Amino acid sequence: MTRYVIANWKMHGGLQRNAEFFKQWHGSVHSSIRVAICVPFPYLAQLSQLSAALPAHAPVEWGAQDVSEHFEGAYTGEVSVSMLEDFACSYVIIGHSERRQYHGESSGAVARKLDRVMQSINTALQPVICVGEHLSERESGSVETVLAEQLDPVLAVLKVHPHRQALLAYEPVWAIGTGVVATPEEISETHEWIAKYAYSALGRELPILYGGSVKPDNAAGIIELPHVDGFLVGGASLKMETFIPLLDCATSIAKL
Ligand code: 13P
Repeated sequence: MTRYVIANWKMHGGLQRNAEFFKQWHGSVHSSIRVAICVPFPYLAQLSQLSAALPAHAPVEWGAQDVSEHFEGAYTGEVSVSMLEDFACSYVIIGHSERRQYHGESSGAVARKLDRVMQSINTALQPVICVGEHLSERESGSVETVLAEQLDPVLAVLKVHPHRQALLAYEPVWAIGTGVVATPEEISETHEWIAKYAYSALGRELPILYGGSVKPDNAAGIIELPHVDGFLVGGASLKMETFIPLLDCATSIAKL
């Protein structure tokens, strides 16, 4: 079974810093693990070069953190699907909670972005669709209602593209960048619910990643949970000393 370790660098990085990061790359990547780094748009070209220079046994893919819902046109500041394809992106994160929170992205807009990716004839670009609840929503017992509201429009899009690959990422908003990781019970229960919900809509399984304060000291306890197919990692992906242990963790499970 494929496991994913996908880094979301958010608004971090720099030409020199990125090059330094790759210089420290060591070890190999197990054949059943896919590793990718989603960088700010200006660094996509650099990532493709840095990745190409890695040894064949340590493949690293790259991706973007957002995409426009439009094909092309007068949309200042936007980046289209075909532009991401020009840089051979393998992944694009869609609907991250920071986009929903700071840029007012609705679940409808998230679905339109997804639809734009699915319309592309290039099937190599995989969306990583993020969903997750706020703390108040968990505390009030409305996790499933919130997730259903976020998932319904994207599942409707995925349903009309049965042959296209897509990944879901469960990222509880209260666990992102806070150091507070969801408990194994919370992760298990929520991933199982998402897996069943998606399966009942699509009749097929989608990989589900967990994101939110994943660190070397909690990764092993998360990756072993049922319905957890990998990590979407922020802070711990910025330094090689905290990123490599996450790969090791995914590798140890993949070898079982
Ligand atoms: P942290 O790993 O920094 O909590 O971020 C998670 C995240 O938002 C990944 O998309």
